[in-house]
Amino acid sequence: MDLELPESVLHAMEARIQRYPQKRSAVLPLLHLIQEHKGYISQKAMQWIAQRLDMQPIEVQELVTFYPMLHQKPCGHVHVRVCRTLSCALQGSAQVLKTLEKALNCPAGSTHPTGSVSLEFFECLANCHGAPVVMVNEVLHADVTPERLQALVEEIKKEIKMKG
Ligand code: FES
Repeated sequence: MDLELPESVLHAMEARIQRYPQKRSAVLPLLHLIQEHKGYISQKAMQWIAQRLDMQPIEVQELVTFYPMLHQKPCGHVHVRVCRTLSCALQGSAQVLKTLEKALNCPAGSTHPTGSVSLEFFECLANCHGAPVVMVNEVLHADVTPERLQALVEEIKKEIKMKG
């Protein structure tokens, strides 16, 4: 089964497997490596991992569906996550989300048809003291007040243009 990954990634995956006395322990590192290079984890990738680690495909799929940071379909070039959990909810994250949906023309839980941006209402982003929190790709933005949100929208639009 060909995962269409560069040799360097396949080597990195083999190296991860060798690190563990039980090869199934490498399942999460392999999922992260695949997502890093493909942007998501396909059914084919899950089957490949299951075969290589002597697991059942359903065991790999359970992990992919359990962890919200793992994706089963491609995300936009810019991935925006708004925290929906308690501290952020109390600090107005629903309004932050609404503003972003409108500004980016992308409903929550979807990817823009051009593939430029994805918007998600996400579980706790582990920065509760900085609520409300927005994550753009891997960068966390805390204390997103309405004024700061406007600046952030401009930043996101710039990034979309750069990556588009
Ligand atoms: S509740 Fe939003 S970061 Fe934890």
